[in-house]
Amino acid sequence: MADQIDHKLEGPEATTAFGHSLARLLRTGDMITLSGDLGAGKSTLARGLISQCLSDHGLPIDDIPSPTFTIVQSYPWPGEHDQGREIWHIDLWRIDDPEELIELGFEEALGRHVMVVEWPDRLQGLLPQDVLSLNLAVENDGARHLTSGDLAETWRDRLRPLGLG
Ligand SMILES: Nc1ncnc2c1ncn2[C@@H]1O[C@H](COP(=O)(O)OP(=O)(O)OP(=O)(O)O)[C@@H](O)[C@H]1O
Ligand SMILES: [Mg+2]
Repeated sequence: MADQIDHKLEGPEATTAFGHSLARLLRTGDMITLSGDLGAGKSTLARGLISQCLSDHGLPIDDIPSPTFTIVQSYPWPGEHDQGREIWHIDLWRIDDPEELIELGFEEALGRHVMVVEWPDRLQGLLPQDVLSLNLAVENDGARHLTSGDLAETWRDRLRPLGLG
């Protein structure tokens, strides 16, 4: 596995499928950030990830609404040894002041829940060291280009079987 992800996603199904694959690698305490322009596919990836987590745990998938207005949507993470843990789907588009995040319990949630964060540039210094930073960009042919920041060792090890380098 290279030190970064560099991968073409041919169509929305590929974005969803990548979300499914990523879901299977997650551990509580992880943070994944999703950046990219409006319409790049961030929510498609997040929904793929969340729906896979829920279905793997036998939970119903009624709806995975966008957290644009609520900022945070949370889902149970009912692993046997992970009582009380959750998946937090966060959209920081409307956040201007990091103080608002602190009011939402963001600091307590860090390192405890699985965090999937859209528009992470609003986080300003609140990013943990082992974050998996993903970016989606629209290519000329309409497909999406998935890249990552430098991968922390834990992510290199976990992502290697997916062959995304
Ligand atoms: N790999 C892909 N190739 C082509 N289209 C894709 C791909 N992945 C997602 N899309 C499509 O891109 C559109 C926008 O996706 P999505 O809503 O997930 O973007 P977003 O980044 O969350 O946008 P916003 O910032 O506006 O919330 C959807 O129609 C989705 O089906
Ligand atoms: Mg979105």
